[in-house]
Amino acid sequence: MPPASIPPPPPLAGLFRIDPTVVYLNHGSFGACPGPVLQAQARHRDRVEADAVRFYVDDLWSMMDRSRSALAPIIGCHARDLVFVDNATTGVTTALHNIELRPGDEILTTTHEYTACLNNTREHARRAGASVVPAELPWPMPDTDTAYERVMSRVTDRTRVALISLVTSSTGIRLPAERIVRDLDARGIDTILDAAHGPGCVPMRTDDWNAAWTTGNCHKWLFAPKGAAFLHVRRDKQPGFRPLILSNDAERLAAAAARTGRPAWHHEFDYCGTDDVSAKLSIADACGFIGSVLPGGIEAVTEHNRAMCLRARNTVCEALGVAHPVPDGMLGPMAAIELPPTSPDAASVKDALYHDWRIQVPVWDTPGGRPVVRLSAQIYNTDEQFEYLGEALRAIVR
Ligand SMILES: Cc1ncc(COP(=O)(O)O)c(C=O)c1O
Repeated sequence: MPPASIPPPPPLAGLFRIDPTVVYLNHGSFGACPGPVLQAQARHRDRVEADAVRFYVDDLWSMMDRSRSALAPIIGCHARDLVFVDNATTGVTTALHNIELRPGDEILTTTHEYTACLNNTREHARRAGASVVPAELPWPMPDTDTAYERVMSRVTDRTRVALISLVTSSTGIRLPAERIVRDLDARGIDTILDAAHGPGCVPMRTDDWNAAWTTGNCHKWLFAPKGAAFLHVRRDKQPGFRPLILSNDAERLAAAAARTGRPAWHHEFDYCGTDDVSAKLSIADACGFIGSVLPGGIEAVTEHNRAMCLRARNTVCEALGVAHPVPDGMLGPMAAIELPPTSPDAASVKDALYHDWRIQVPVWDTPGGRPVVRLSAQIYNTDEQFEYLGEALRAIVR
């Protein structure tokens, strides 16, 4: 039976709109946007509504540039190499659509990639008569070398492109992506780096890593409103690079871009038809928020979350009497933990956690078979909440 009261959230949780009766341990799935950023978003929307013509014709461009300039130093790149998309799924799919595959080509990926990205990759391959080759990543994950070797062992002379996560979705593992990108590049293979869990999640050095395409969400760990993601395109890939949706200026891009004084591809991506762009405009505000919410700025936030995640992982593993499935060096602010063999199936555990204990945390099946719980640590969480999770899980799997 759950205790009478759930552990209270810390004072910083007051900045968020999370239901205080829920122990929210799943920042990783959809993020959580703080009140000050939502207020900034409301101001952007008001500005649009005050004079939509002026906004979409004149003001939009410099407002997008404001977000680009704020984000670029956080992810280690130049603002001119960045555009915005709605989410990482769109970022991956946009990159795929700009790659011309031939029949017989192979797209290399891993068994820990995000399902929607894999679905789009398979569909893109199918249309071209190409195939998708998933490198089998182990679970539990012993070390970075194993992850690296498993990926590289599936390279063939038909591999054209790779799709690799920086931090995997269901297992929360920080892959050695920079090493994989570099060594694939040396073999003439381009990489789409899926950094959905990138900005604000783990330190990023986009230019140094030099993937052909890097996409990542701002609405997860950077605290932007939902519908805010970036797509970084390496300069040699920018000529001819197009959004999924062509808009009014598509046939006269150079002239239109000259009018707004900006790179043609920014012009094309910044307006893909009338849309609520307030989440993208709020990326700049989210960068300001994460930079000031803790003394020490964004680095302090990522370090705080990672340290809390490691403590949480220890607490839950101890409560369940299970081993650490991933070495510390491969973890950021998320950790997946395998439930013991006595555990009911994933859906039953998730239901019991939510309905009986008021804990919002994902529980899912893994390639290895046993259900895992994936916890996320964020500044609105406390160690006590993870102790409560450990207690709940122990009672449920008994
Ligand atoms: C690794 C990874 N890639 C892509 C996505 C998709 O993100 P979105 O739903 O914002 O497109 C996720 C979502 O959790 C993810 O974890």
